Amino acid sequence: SKKPIIVEGPMPIEAEKFAERLDNVEKEKIGNFVFYKGTVNDYPVIVAKTGKGMENTAAATALAIEKYSPAAIINQGTSGGHDPNLDVFDIVLGKRTTNIGSLKTSQLAEDEGIKPKKWKPMDLMASEGSAGEDPDAENIHYYKGDEKLLAAAHEVKEDYTKGKVVDGTIGSADVWNNEVDRIKWFHQKYGTSVEEMEGAAGAQIAESFHIPYLGIRILSNNKTNGGEYNPNTASANQEYVYEVVKHYISMN
Ligand code: 5AD
Repeated sequence: SKKPIIVEGPMPIEAEKFAERLDNVEKEKIGNFVFYKGTVNDYPVIVAKTGKGMENTAAATALAIEKYSPAAIINQGTSGGHDPNLDVFDIVLGKRTTNIGSLKTSQLAEDEGIKPKKWKPMDLMASEGSAGEDPDAENIHYYKGDEKLLAAAHEVKEDYTKGKVVDGTIGSADVWNNEVDRIKWFHQKYGTSVEEMEGAAGAQIAESFHIPYLGIRILSNNKTNGGEYNPNTASANQEYVYEVVKHYISMN
């Protein structure tokens, strides 16, 4: 039988719209995760409602890989803009995804303060040694979006009319940044287009199992240009991702 495509979404509003579009759906609950197993054009597609954040996403991704041996995984949902040229309803394809919460602070003694701009990226996958001591770990680890999934996403760009669709860099952490100077720091240092709380966690697990993976994130807000939070972006993104999945299936 054919290997399924998995579409991950953290919140109900980010997963259920896609799940409604599946045919022959069967719901499977494991812990807090809900897997909607169905088909799109007779091809197996599983929507995973993962819950929010890095831990939920990593666990749901590992579980889904072991249980369903997917052909590919798309992690999708809302995000906050780091690039002032991107507006609410624009969509970022994760050509790169990176963890922006894995950091090493500088060496400061008592009463020398806290200096976040001096913090260094810390790559937990750089070696099996201590990430605190290993100079190779002072590195930004970019997970590359799968070429074929990216190609499918490019092919259906024109179907999306609510905003732009661009290639970019997705930054993930269990942090919601509202400080514009901090957002700018990430944008400059990491090249982030948007931030969210899941993409890099799923990417890290998918890469270790050699499963093709792509993050697709719509801006629901953008602090850098006054873009106000709009929850309707969640369903708009799923409509686009549905087109991506259909096209990806047609490429096989
Ligand atoms: N910062 C962090 N996460 C965001 N999300 C949407 N906008 C942002 C933002 N500005 C997403 C996360 C998480 C939920 C809070 O919404 O991915 O699932």
